[in-house]
Amino acid sequence: MIDLVWDRLKKVPSPGDPDARTQKEDAAHLVDLFRMSSESAGPVDPAYPKKMQEAIDLATKLESQLQDGQDAPEFRAALRTSCRTCHRAFRD
Ligand code: HEC
Repeated sequence: MIDLVWDRLKKVPSPGDPDARTQKEDAAHLVDLFRMSSESAGPVDPAYPKKMQEAIDLATKLESQLQDGQDAPEFRAALRTSCRTCHRAFRD
């Protein structure tokens, strides 16, 4: 699920791209997916909820930038880093 949503958000779509039409919904959905996984029990390491909160903040900023009509490439890049660093630390 998250990988499908992320696949549509990871880069700025070109105007004719069908992904361009669903960017705002996709960003809102990403925020929800992170929120849901932050509510379920995760790794006990105290760094984990912190990382998850950072990811929620970034996804929320991406969503509001898209709502404002921005492409927000910097938040897309920051989110990519956030997926990778958390997976490297907490996912085997
Ligand atoms: C704060 C930590 C954290 C962040 C940030 C994070 N993940 Fe994960 N992710 C995990 C952990 C832990 C697992 C393995 C446990 C599980 O499946 O719930 C996982 C599993 C997954 C899986 C496989 C299982 C599933 O639930 O589908 C996918 C795909 C995935 N992550 C994609 C992403 C993408 C894409 C991003 C960034 C947009 C991301 N994750 C950000 C911690 C994180």
